[in-house]
Amino acid sequence: MKIYREKDYDAMSRRAAQIIAGEITHNPACALGLATGSTPEGAYKYLVDWYKQGLVSFRDVLSVNLDEYVGLAPDHDQSYRYFMQSNLFDHVDILPENTRVPDGLTKDPEAFCAEYDAYIRSLGYVNLQLLGIGRNGHIGFNEPGDHFVKETHVVDLTESTIDANARFFASRDDVPRQAISMGMGAIMGAKKVLLCASGEDKADAICRSVSGPITPECPGSILQLHKNVVLVADEAALSKLIAAGVEV
Ligand code: GLP
Repeated sequence: MKIYREKDYDAMSRRAAQIIAGEITHNPACALGLATGSTPEGAYKYLVDWYKQGLVSFRDVLSVNLDEYVGLAPDHDQSYRYFMQSNLFDHVDILPENTRVPDGLTKDPEAFCAEYDAYIRSLGYVNLQLLGIGRNGHIGFNEPGDHFVKETHVVDLTESTIDANARFFASRDDVPRQAISMGMGAIMGAKKVLLCASGEDKADAICRSVSGPITPECPGSILQLHKNVVLVADEAALSKLIAAGVEV
C-alpha cells in the first residue's frame, strides 16, 4: 500500500483530487467508483475548480457510487444521489446517464442489487474506487460483521454508524436504518483503490485497516489483500499507525 502523509484536510483533498484527475487524464473514458461523506467533499471541490479552469473533463467518464440510504428519494437533501449532484455532477460535464447511484426507493432490492453488480462487472470493474472509512472501519456501508459480503446488498446500519451520521439529519430518529451498499466484490475488483481519511476519529480505523488482522470485524482490513491501494490521509488520521511504528 502506498501511503501519502498529508498535513491536513485540505492537503489530503488536493492530493486525492490530483490522483482522480490523473486517472481521468490517463484514461478519459474511465469508470470511477465514487464515495460520499465529509471526507471526499474537499477533493470534489478541487475537481470542480479544475474542471472550470479547463484542466479536467468528465465528458466520457462513467461513475458508479458505493451506496445509498434505503427510503430516501434522490431529491432528499441527505440522499447520496443529492450529495453527488450538489458536490460534483451538477458542476462538471459528466453525462447524467453515465452516473449511477443505488436507488434507495427500489421496490425490488434483490433484483436491483443483482443488476448493479452486473453493470459493474460489465465495465470490467471500475478503474479507480474512491473510499472514505467509517469510525468502525466500514467501507461503503459494509459494516463490521462475521463475514465479508461480496455482492451489492441491503445492510442494517450499526448504532455507531447511525450515531456518526446523525449530524447530517434533523434528529437521530431521522437517520435511515438501512442502506444499499456495494459489496466487497465490486470494491476489490477495482483496478486501483484510493482510500482517504482525515481526523483523529479515523485514526483507529486506519490503523486497524492497514496494520491489523484481515477480519470482517474491521471491513477496511480487506484492502490489505488488494494489490493497488493508495491511502491519502492527514497526520491526525495516521497518528495511531505512526504510533504503532508503521513507516508512512
Ligand atoms: C458513511 C458512508 C461511507 C463513508 C463513511 C465516512 O456512512 N457510507 O462511504 O466513507 O461513512 O463518512 P465521513 O467521510 O463523513 O466521515
